[in-house]
Parts: sequence; C-alpha cells; structure tokens
Amino acid sequence: MRLLVTGGAGFIGSNFVRHMLRRGDCRARVLDALTYAGNLDNVADVSSDPGFEFVRGDVCDPEAVRQAIRDTDVVVHFAAETHNDRSIHGPGGAAATNVMGTLNLLEAAREADLDRFIFISTDEVYGEALGPPKTETDRLQPRGPYSASKAGADLMCQAYHVTYGLPVIIHRATNNYGPYQYPEKLIPLFCYRALRGESLPVYGDGMQVRDWLHVGDNCRAIELLIERGEPGEIYNVPGDNERPNLDVIRLMLDELGKPESLISFVEDRPGHDVRYSLNGGKIELLGWDADVEWEDGMRRTVRWYAEHREWLEASVKRGEDFLKQWYAKRGW
Ligand code: NAD
Ligand code: DAU
Repeated sequence: MRLLVTGGAGFIGSNFVRHMLRRGDCRARVLDALTYAGNLDNVADVSSDPGFEFVRGDVCDPEAVRQAIRDTDVVVHFAAETHNDRSIHGPGGAAATNVMGTLNLLEAAREADLDRFIFISTDEVYGEALGPPKTETDRLQPRGPYSASKAGADLMCQAYHVTYGLPVIIHRATNNYGPYQYPEKLIPLFCYRALRGESLPVYGDGMQVRDWLHVGDNCRAIELLIERGEPGEIYNVPGDNERPNLDVIRLMLDELGKPESLISFVEDRPGHDVRYSLNGGKIELLGWDADVEWEDGMRRTVRWYAEHREWLEASVKRGEDFLKQWYAKRGW
C-alpha cells in the first residue's frame, strides 16, 4: 500500500506512520510543511525505514501537492492548524490550511488514481454535545474558527465524493492522547509546566468534558477505515472515556508526584465547548473498539513526557511567541 500522509510529522500523523510501517507491507510518503507543530524528531525512529519518504511542502501549494500525490494508493489527510486557542487568536491560518489546503488536495486527488482518500475531521464539527452522544447523521454546528474550518473541509470532502466520485471516507475522532503531542494542548502543556513547578492555567471551572482516545487506538481505527470503510461514509471514533478536565489534570499530577496547588483557575477560552461526545456504533460494526485502558494509557503518556524533557522544551520554544501572548492574561 502506497500512502501519502499529510501532516505526518505532527502528533497523530507521526504515530500513524509508525503504526503503518510496522506492518511491513506499506510505503509512507509524508508531506508536511514543518510548522511549529511539525517536527522531524517525531519520525526520527522510522526515517531509515526503506518505506519512509519525507517531502517538505505546504498543502496550500498546488504544485507541491500534485508532485507528492504521484504513485499513491491511499491519501490520509491529517495536515491542519489544529489548536483551538490559536484559531481564536487569529483565525486566518486555520481557514487557509484547513479549508484551502484540503481543497488543493482534493483537486490533486481527482487526477490521481486513488483507492481511498481518508479525511481526518474531528468531533468538534458537531459543536458541543449537551445531549446524547453525536451520531454521524447529526447536524454540523461548529462554534469556533478551528471547528468551522474543519467542518468546511469535511463538507468539501463529501461534495467531492458526490460530485466527482472520489473515494472519500471521513473520520471524526474525539480528543487523542499519547506521545508526540505538541505542548500547547492540555496534557503535554500541563506536563511541561508541572515538571517545571509552574502553575497550570485551567480554563473556567475545569469541569468541561472531553472523551479521551489513545492515539494508538485511533491509528488502528484509521487503518481499519482504509481496509474496510465504505467510500462516501462518515465514521465517528470515540474513546468511550469521558472525563472532566480536572480529573485528567489530577491523574497527571499524581503520576508526576506534583501537588494540586499548581492548579490555577484562569479566564475561560472564548466560546469554550463544554462537552464532546460521540456514538461509535458504526465503526464498531466494522470490528473496531478502543483498547487502551484510560488510567494505564494516561500514566504511560505522562511518563513519556517526563522522560522526554528535551523534546518538550524544544517544542515549546518553536511556539513560544503565541503561548506568551495567549497566556499573558492567564498567568504564564
Ligand atoms: P498537529 O498540530 O500535531 O500536527 C499537524 C501537522 O500538520 C504538523 O506536522 C504540521 O507541520 C502540519 N501542517 C500544518 N499546516 C500544514 C500545511 N499548510 N501544509 C503541510 N503540513 C502542514 O495535529 P494533530 O493533533 O496530529 O491532528 C492531526 C489531524 O487530526 C488534524 O486534522 C486534526 O484536525 C485532527 N484531529 C485531531 C485530534 C486531536 O485530539 N489531536 C482529534 C480529532 C481530530
Ligand atoms: O475534540 C477533538 C479536538 O481535540 C481536536 O479536533 C483538536 O485538534 C484538539 O486540539 C483538541 O481540541 P481541544 O480544544 O479539546 O484540546 P485542548 O488540549 O486545547 O483542550 C482540552 C481541554 O482542556 C479543553 O476543555 C480546554 C482545556 N484547557 C486547555 C488548555 C490548552 C485548559 O483548561 N487550559 C489550557 O491551557
């Protein structure tokens, strides 16, 4: 299987490339612009694999995308501006990469002879889930610039299936956790700060709920969709593991042996979605289930960050300008 993996130097993309190369029957070409969130260190351990190829390029550049998609069977499109806070601070980046970058890729895909085009969307396209877990036929009601840009791309992918017959499959997962996540997201950022004995800026009352999915379980879900997903269909991928933020933070502090006095309640994220929740019945019918037990997966993840202090420090440095500005009001 010849894969083109956009955003393969980021968090989920690098875990996915590693997962697929381990099979021994795949080639993975990574197309990544190496923004602050992308890092070749994330794929250093597979860089000498004969099936691995890295191309530095921007999904917004039509020529780079046309070149990268040659001789590909399956596209897995992860590349995106992925942080809600950054998209609130300045929505232009999310709109450009997530909407126009996806459009570029879809256009190039029309000329390629693909078996599958997997679009990595998000549970956020449904908006906050105040009632029952969302199913794939529920309305899209994104509430922030990041989720609106992902919903725009998600709909464009659906349109390319209907209009041009592109074999698109849409994947919508909940919050991933695991190694190599950029330390602007809750778990790695708070590990970084707790390890340094710095305060942890909890938005609002910290009772917002996320459904945590181990990145390894998510990689298996994407692999399954490549093999058994139906073109034109949408699949939710939940962790079945809903937790208020404060519970996640307390477990992290416990694993690090750090005091809860580090918790500091700060001004909330504007438009903060209080809960995400997905119904995973459809992908379960294909034979997928989340496997990693939460407390074990979370403790292993926290230990990984504690053992990769240099990776954390170097990563934070690449995005420090934004972090300083954003948290200026929030006790950074
Ligand atoms: P990430 O921010 O860790 O990685 C994004 C990668 O995309 C980086 O390597 C970056 O360099 C690359 N990139 C950004 N802009 C680019 C451009 N213009 N051209 C080429 N490459 C570019 O993101 P992640 O958390 O791994 O998320 C991957 C995908 O999964 C995204 O599409 C995101 O919306 C989706 N998603 C993430 C989660 C989560 O919890 N992390 C949950 C659901 C869906
Ligand atoms: O649900 C899927 C989405 O999960 C993905 O589509 C996004 O790409 C990914 O970033 C993630 O979005 P969230 O906004 O849920 O993730 P984040 O780690 O930024 O925040 C998780 C929760 O923690 C959320 O309720 C906000 C809160 N939080 C986060 C930060 C960074 C804080 O309280 N303080 C913080 O400093």
